[in-house]
Amino acid sequence: MIEIHNLTKRFKNKVIFQETSFTACSGKITILTGRSGIGKTTLLNMIAGLQRMDSGSYRYEGRELSNLSDEELSAFRGGYIGYIPQDFALIEDYTVKENILLPNLYNKQKDMEQAERKMLEYLRLFDLTSLSDKRVRTLSGGQKQRVAIIRSIIGSPKILLADEPTTNLDEENLALVIDLLQEQKAAGTIVIVASHDSRLQKIADTTYEIKDRKLQLVEEK
Ligand SMILES: Nc1ncnc2c1ncn2[C@@H]1O[C@H](COP(=O)(O)OP(=O)(O)O)[C@@H](O)[C@H]1O
Ligand SMILES: [Mg+2]
Repeated sequence: MIEIHNLTKRFKNKVIFQETSFTACSGKITILTGRSGIGKTTLLNMIAGLQRMDSGSYRYEGRELSNLSDEELSAFRGGYIGYIPQDFALIEDYTVKENILLPNLYNKQKDMEQAERKMLEYLRLFDLTSLSDKRVRTLSGGQKQRVAIIRSIIGSPKILLADEPTTNLDEENLALVIDLLQEQKAAGTIVIVASHDSRLQKIADTTYEIKDRKLQLVEEK
């Protein structure tokens, strides 16, 4: 379980979050909505340990993370987090396979053989097998998005963060992404998705809207 309490975050003098709270549970899909520029990506980045809160507490399974060092945070990220960033953050000159396996190379605790097996299975599922050894720069936006999705899950993360993961996807690939998010949920992962996409709303267990610098609980099924 992720528990964030009394979160305040500002950039210079612009306040993004003002003493607000957020929880996300294992085996649930939590959707974050709110207009563009409101703070969805910033919240995901703080959960991933890529950005720091100005004040407040952040607990994962009861362990306080807000006072960890950069090194400890980066170890937490490697061990627990799968992230599908809005801009994919792929390395354009590396191949599809290299991009997918890269986060696992840095994590010695992860089983490479299992990761490779899983990668091949998902490449097939997402119809990317023939592109496996192509450089990412030659791919379309939708193909890159699918590569970023596969990269995020092959290490079996406990927390999966997805930032508007359906923007470039057609109906067929949307259905695959929905299946994948539900599969992660069934495996007990904490799934948090920032999205305006009404097509994703039907799989949400909990929905928060960011508004007036607060995280407002809209719906809990
Ligand atoms: N590193 C940063 N430095 C300064 N301002 C930032 C930074 N990151 C985001 N912002 C600002 O914070 C606000 C929230 O951004 P963001 O979290 O990306 O919103 P969303 O994902 O909901 O569109 C925006 O006004 C954005 O310009
Ligand atoms: Mg964003």
